[in-house]
Amino acid sequence: MSALAGKTAIVTGAAGGIGAAAARALAAAGARVVLLDRDAERVAAAAAAIAGARAYPADIADKAAVERVFAAAARDLGGIDILVNNAGIESVWTIERMPEADWDRVLDVNLKGAMLCTQAAVPSMKARGGGAIVNVASVAGKRISFSGGASYTASKAGLLGFTRHAAFELGLYRIRVNAVCPGPTLTPMIERNLDAAQRKSVEAIVPLGRWVLPEDVAAAIVFLAGDGAAMCTGTSIDVDGGVLVSNGSPYREYFARRR
Ligand SMILES: NC(=O)c1ccc[n+]([C@@H]2O[C@H](COP(=O)([O-])OP(=O)(O)OC[C@H]3O[C@@H](n4cnc5c(N)ncnc54)[C@H](O)[C@@H]3O)[C@@H](O)[C@H]2O)c1
Repeated sequence: MSALAGKTAIVTGAAGGIGAAAARALAAAGARVVLLDRDAERVAAAAAAIAGARAYPADIADKAAVERVFAAAARDLGGIDILVNNAGIESVWTIERMPEADWDRVLDVNLKGAMLCTQAAVPSMKARGGGAIVNVASVAGKRISFSGGASYTASKAGLLGFTRHAAFELGLYRIRVNAVCPGPTLTPMIERNLDAAQRKSVEAIVPLGRWVLPEDVAAAIVFLAGDGAAMCTGTSIDVDGGVLVSNGSPYREYFARRR
């Protein structure tokens, strides 16, 4: 039997690279899936590619919109078992030049958005006797960002803190809260920010020798969402090809200096 048969799931940012892959993987594991994104056209297209999936356009930083969409999705699905807080945006500013509005927007989407979606999902999960929330943080939350600015790094570090605290509070209702920390992952976010030469130099520092793919991250999300992770909460899985254990220089150089 499929690991998530009979389960329902909402994925935010599901028109993008990691979100769409997570929605596909959850559906392949047997879950019925709702895809949520602020990009109405692209999220409808992503949902159309998944049998039985539905799409809702919404900005996750807008509390009223989140409440409206989660109420409709819970009605459609008959309740929510799994929430993947994946929607996120990057920032290109240095601290010296960063407009206040950039800081606010990145924190509103990447951190407050996850909190608002969690708040909106909890009543349904509570009523069902439990649930699983997976927050898509980043290696940036443990180190610093490759392509985003300080607002991005701060938002992801905050999301890991939120993950721990939510795991503590929501354990009361048997709702598990965990995070995945992708390393450099080939998605539209990277295509927007790094050119081919920059992508090659990032790849060179990855011990496992290639970019993370959205499907690699989706596999960890499916694991944390399912009963195989029944006693995991407040933790995070790094899906980074070893970036967090690298020394920052091209991986092969290490061996050139060794005997
Ligand atoms: N690509 C990477 O290297 C990488 C690494 C670590 C973490 N992440 C994280 O993974 C997540 C997914 O990123 P991705 O690389 O797939 O990027 P992406 O740009 O392909 O997808 C992000 C999606 O989120 C949606 N979105 C943005 N703001 C939204 C909002 N306010 N409300 C609803 N939807 C919104 C966008 O429309 C887009 O479809 C993000 O949280 C990102 O920070 C990405």
